[in-house]
Amino acid sequence: MNSEIAPAHRVSKKKRGSNDINTFHSLFVLFSHFMFSMYYHRKRTSEFHEKGDIRMCGIIGYVGEKVAMPVLLDGLKRLEYRGYDSAGIAVVEDGCMVTFRRTGKIAGLEALCQENPTLSRWGIGHTRWATHGVPSEKKAHPHLDCRQRIAVVHNGIIENYRQLRKELEDIGHVFLSETDSEVVAHLLEGGGAPLQRIQKTVIKLQGSYALCILFQEEPDTLYGVRMFNPLVLGVGENENFLASDIPAFLDKTRKVVFLDDGDITRITPNSWEIVDFYGKQKTQATVVQIPWDPLTAEKGGYKHFMLKEIHEQPQALEDTLLGRWDLVNGRVRFDELEGFALGTVERIVIIACGTACHAGMIGKYMIEQLARVPVEVDYASEFRYRDPLIDEKTLVLCISQSGETADTLAAARLARERQAMVLSICNGMGTTLTRISDRTLYTRAGVEIGVASTKAFSCQLAVLFLLSLYLAQQRTTIGNQLLSTHIQSLLALPRQMNDLLKNSATIHELARQYYLYHDFLYLGRGVCYPLALEGALKLKEVSYLHAEGLSAGEMKHGPIALIEPDVISVVLLGKGIAGAKTLGNIEEIKARKGKVIVVSHPDHWGEIPLVEQVITITDTNKYLVPLLMIIPLQLFAYYVALEKGSDVDQPRNLAKSVTVE
Ligand code: G6P
Repeated sequence: MNSEIAPAHRVSKKKRGSNDINTFHSLFVLFSHFMFSMYYHRKRTSEFHEKGDIRMCGIIGYVGEKVAMPVLLDGLKRLEYRGYDSAGIAVVEDGCMVTFRRTGKIAGLEALCQENPTLSRWGIGHTRWATHGVPSEKKAHPHLDCRQRIAVVHNGIIENYRQLRKELEDIGHVFLSETDSEVVAHLLEGGGAPLQRIQKTVIKLQGSYALCILFQEEPDTLYGVRMFNPLVLGVGENENFLASDIPAFLDKTRKVVFLDDGDITRITPNSWEIVDFYGKQKTQATVVQIPWDPLTAEKGGYKHFMLKEIHEQPQALEDTLLGRWDLVNGRVRFDELEGFALGTVERIVIIACGTACHAGMIGKYMIEQLARVPVEVDYASEFRYRDPLIDEKTLVLCISQSGETADTLAAARLARERQAMVLSICNGMGTTLTRISDRTLYTRAGVEIGVASTKAFSCQLAVLFLLSLYLAQQRTTIGNQLLSTHIQSLLALPRQMNDLLKNSATIHELARQYYLYHDFLYLGRGVCYPLALEGALKLKEVSYLHAEGLSAGEMKHGPIALIEPDVISVVLLGKGIAGAKTLGNIEEIKARKGKVIVVSHPDHWGEIPLVEQVITITDTNKYLVPLLMIIPLQLFAYYVALEKGSDVDQPRNLAKSVTVE
């Protein structure tokens, strides 16, 4: 066995004069790396739409003078926002590979490790959030080779794993899981130095991957590989780190090297080096000093989680759509619904709380108009006490970000008792709601930390739209051509959202003009009515201002009495007849000297005279308008709260998940 790296690749820490830190240069590099990774990540994820699974997971690797286990567990906890359906670590103790794996949150793995402490000073760890399938210990990383001497953690997808696995099985390799990641551990078996084996392996892999690899035969050494999936190297004093994100080690070192796609790195406690897949030494690797404190880093450099999560919506949407459509055949695919007897459904009842309920109200328009099934929407707290009329021909659709909201759970249990079919749209993997439900369609928004729900809402809308199309194709209430057009509109949304997010400064300026006012009315018709409720909810949640969402048609039946110069009306102009009718509301408000902010499509309604401000969104179909309009509404609520100085992420009197009645 060869534990040596080829001399040509060895770089001692002292010789790296070119790696000196220069703050200006560092920030520039940091920015360009960020833009570069965003570009590649977006490019790759859009390519993967046709291919299947992408996982949001966290990787950590440590080699240094400290005992590795606590460092790895601490890093995993800091990465837990990336996924928490299972976790594992591998270390080498007394020359032998030892692995610990657990389903569920990191706390479970931590308890297991505390019962079996090790003194090893190098190891790797992983926290996983699978977007498909049930989490299990077998699927948890690290994965090992046949002889259990090589441990691998992986983020991403090995697209050609089936073929590779078959080739490996044909020559006698035995696999312990169904994962694509395990093939990497088996490919790394064989002769030659570890680095050469890695090089031989990576050129066989197709897909996206960040890998962290530990060879039992090579003490105090770890390898990292980056290809279309994030991996950073943390440079410490007598210790070095690998991680999928900076927060994993930022309390231990702020010196970071951003790996590029196609980099292989080898780290020991006192050295690091980078080579390409063919062994060529990388000479321009730069150590960047990260100016963030650890908490800011978890927020990805954003001031608040709410702002970060607003900006994460394009990616969350891409992840949520992944593998759920087939443009060639013009079909929506929900593997989760295979064999589920939706054909017998005569009525749908949507139940949810808060933001999730607003998504459900928009879903009603989508489902009724596209699939022609009657839909009722109710707050879970109302539904559970109203002795609802439901039976086995009713589909009860429960929507929840957390999957743990007490009222929604009680409503779902009641629905089951009354023999209804229960389907949930949920973000929390394996949560109580998903266990009560017959089936679950996961939103893949990632962990949402800000109390005001943002990215979960847009992902819920995307799943509702897909579900409407799915039901429509089953009931043949939609033609293939229209179905394809709708799917294309959905796929265009992440890019359109990104364009709107670039306009944040304008919304911030608007917030500066209006944050001292006290009363806001949000008005809309059709899908823009529930959106008005959501826009108002966002503002009141984080800025504590009085904000009411109203059906624009109801203005004349009472609320118009409120209009005066100090009342701000935010008018949401949707498409078609609903938008045309709402134009009339603007005139009524202006005639009473109220102030008006309009959110609209410029191409659809042309210039809107006399109003204080028009925020424009790009064109999409009438059902998807809320997915674009919500961006300026969320940003407006955020910036008003920021100007008012309120605690944006943890607003007073509110909880992220209301687990009691
Ligand atoms: C709380 C949160 C809201 C959320 C609602 C429903 O009230 O503050 O933001 O919309 O619960 O939560 P769920 O997790 O069921 O979507």
